[in-house]
Amino acid sequence: MSPTAHGYIAGGASAETTVTANRAAFDAWRIVPRMLTDISSRDTGVSLFGRRLPQPFMLAPIGALELAHREADVGAARAAAAAGVPAILSSQASQPMEACTAAMDTVTPGAPRWFQLYWPKSDALATSLIGRAEACGCEALVVTLDTPLLGWRPRDLDLGHLPFLRGQGLAQYTHDPVFQSMLADAPADADRPSITPRLLGNVLASARHYPGSTWRALTSGRGLATVRQFVATYSRPDLTWADLAWLRERTRLPILLKGVLSAEDARLAAEAGMDGLIVSNHGGRQVDGAIASLDALIDIRGAAPDLTLVLDSGVRTGADVLKALALGADAVAIGRPYAYALALAGAAGVAEWIANMAADFELTMALSGARSVDELRAGNVELRPAARS
Ligand SMILES: Cc1cc2nc3c(=O)[nH]c(=O)nc-3n(C[C@H](O)[C@H](O)[C@H](O)COP(=O)(O)O)c2cc1C
Repeated sequence: MSPTAHGYIAGGASAETTVTANRAAFDAWRIVPRMLTDISSRDTGVSLFGRRLPQPFMLAPIGALELAHREADVGAARAAAAAGVPAILSSQASQPMEACTAAMDTVTPGAPRWFQLYWPKSDALATSLIGRAEACGCEALVVTLDTPLLGWRPRDLDLGHLPFLRGQGLAQYTHDPVFQSMLADAPADADRPSITPRLLGNVLASARHYPGSTWRALTSGRGLATVRQFVATYSRPDLTWADLAWLRERTRLPILLKGVLSAEDARLAAEAGMDGLIVSNHGGRQVDGAIASLDALIDIRGAAPDLTLVLDSGVRTGADVLKALALGADAVAIGRPYAYALALAGAAGVAEWIANMAADFELTMALSGARSVDELRAGNVELRPAARS
């Protein structure tokens, strides 16, 4: 990857201590394997929202995947569909959800897919995005709460790089009829920026990313208007728990709130009629010094026993998946590793990575003495805090 792409994908907030804490939290638990449990047949499947899935892991939503590889979201989605692993399609995708889900259906019709929403300021745009996700066969709506503002990310700041300002990662918006109708009202810059090669590069890149002819997007100003309207509308920092009632009425899909780390928030989510949570600190990209998501899991499970819990942030190996499941998660989501696999070899790379994760998890589960995820979750495998030196 280019230095800017790598910086964007690998980076975390501020001193990146949350990124480190996510890994340390997994290392702080050790597995106590059991012997003679007849592991000759094994089942790594889990059931989420009435659907049986072959693996307890899924692809976390990652924006601007074109930074990793030109096959981008469609490539990752195709690999997920081939393995029956759910892909959570990002609001900040580089290709529209319609293209991803059509590609998935050519690989495996009806392959599992969820949609992740960044709740925009415009209710009409939110309604349109949700409607499109439903029409694309998405089986759950993931509402990301931890990014009403972008975290302080020094790697991007040092390189002066943010993909969205170049029109990257805006495909869900540029393909949305409601968003398109908002372009005429895109706000102008407060001050006229000085014309620099970087500015001209961004203007050209944003026009290239608008569907149809680049020349028309450039001369009509639609490329630049997309970036301005996106920046103005992409999030609602004024959201509160009371707003969830509006969302609950908009869709019959199960709703999961992504980014919850506090037990009290988990209780509020259950009260608001949500179906699940993605216990996550956004891979350490938002709040430096935040609790590791694995460390938040036990309290959240206690506070919201009936919610479906997916854990992400720092999951890298089969042992990590096992630990998260044993500590109360129903499944996990994984982010950066599949972006790196995509960067290496497109869809083929992601398929290879999924196969490796699946094998690592199955072996670790079986060698720990469990035949199935149900057995794991029933407490058949003991975890112990690591001995500290
Ligand atoms: C490059 C990058 C882009 C991301 N984009 C989104 C996004 O568009 N929406 C979202 O909800 N989360 C996004 N996330 C967070 C992931 O969904 C997930 O929470 C995180 O990557 C999990 O941590 P891990 O990378 O350590 O596995 C992004 C993460 C990365 C690394």
